[in-house]
Amino acid sequence: FSLKPFNTFSVEAKAKYFTEVTCVEELKEVLHFANSNTPKLPILFLGGGSNILFTQDFDGLAIKLNLQGISEESINENEVLVTAKAGENWHNFVIHCLKKNYGGLENLSLIPGNVGTSPMQNIGAYGTEIKDVFVSCKVLDLENSELKTFNLEECRFGYRDSIFKQEGKGKYVILEVTFKLTTKNHHIKTEYGAIQSELENLGINDNVTIQDVSKAVINIRQSKLPDPKETGNAGSFFKNPTIPLAQFEILKEKFNNIPGYPNGEVVKVPAGWLIEQSGWKGKQIGNVASHKLQALVLINATGNATGKEIFDFSTAVINSIKEKYGIELEREVNII
Ligand code: EPU
Repeated sequence: FSLKPFNTFSVEAKAKYFTEVTCVEELKEVLHFANSNTPKLPILFLGGGSNILFTQDFDGLAIKLNLQGISEESINENEVLVTAKAGENWHNFVIHCLKKNYGGLENLSLIPGNVGTSPMQNIGAYGTEIKDVFVSCKVLDLENSELKTFNLEECRFGYRDSIFKQEGKGKYVILEVTFKLTTKNHHIKTEYGAIQSELENLGINDNVTIQDVSKAVINIRQSKLPDPKETGNAGSFFKNPTIPLAQFEILKEKFNNIPGYPNGEVVKVPAGWLIEQSGWKGKQIGNVASHKLQALVLINATGNATGKEIFDFSTAVINSIKEKYGIELEREVNII
């Protein structure tokens, strides 16, 4: 069964078995089937496919999570709890909330992927992370097929990180996520990056609404991030590395224009800058390239790249940055 339509890199890989589930009962049945097989069938969950790279075929059962539905519960005059099932497309969910004038997700407009995978890496962009609006998520424990709820604290969110990438890795499947959004007196965040200047371009100077912020974010993303429908990619391929302040200061002596965002004793360095300065931006090897407008994004440039080729390209990038700056980039994309 071809997994090509289920990964935004659009690379070919085959799963031995494939199925789609639309509710918890179906999911439980499928898991029971996989576990009663001898030997047990390995399982791979597919969400939006926007943060995954297949480097080989999968000799097990791929399960596409297609649970749909959005519900809400008013909690007070200013806030509402909105719950979306795992298979809801993230951006459609954001738009749904904006139409209802619910605030909190506007800076996260146009992020690819589904609601169910948003907590895994605590998706974030333009000054907001989902942890800022997250209340809880309901999961299925794969060991005993029981339902469990993780609250904000239990998810242990960090930059592109959560319990689901650490101790909880491979143990749970996220079924739905609940967010707390504002219904009025929205907290507008325009400080990050180019939002302010994009709003000015749009002729919006005061009384900025959440819908305006979303529009600005959409424009910025579209201006520099490749559309996976046209060019296979998985957004940022690497995380922005965090290094000790002392190391940053030494680097600064040698590379005096190196950007860094200090946070206590550590500094976050934009990986895109390191990649660009190492000559990779826009560079193509075979079927793979670093995007010409955002070096952090690796692309399936010809549409014919294999996962292995993309992986090898990323290794070459990691090695060259390690050599030049002594910084080891970490992949953000899940490698299968
Ligand atoms: N930069 C370069 N060259 C490049 C790209 C970036 O020099 O080709 C430098 C510039 O100094 C720029 C800085 O990197 O000021 C930051 O760039 P940008 O604002 O584009 O953000 P980023 O750090 O590269 C992160 C997220 C993005 C998110 C943006 C906006 C990570 C790994 N990526 O990228 O997330 O959209 O911030 O908030 O943290 C994604 O995860 O797929 C993703 C696109």
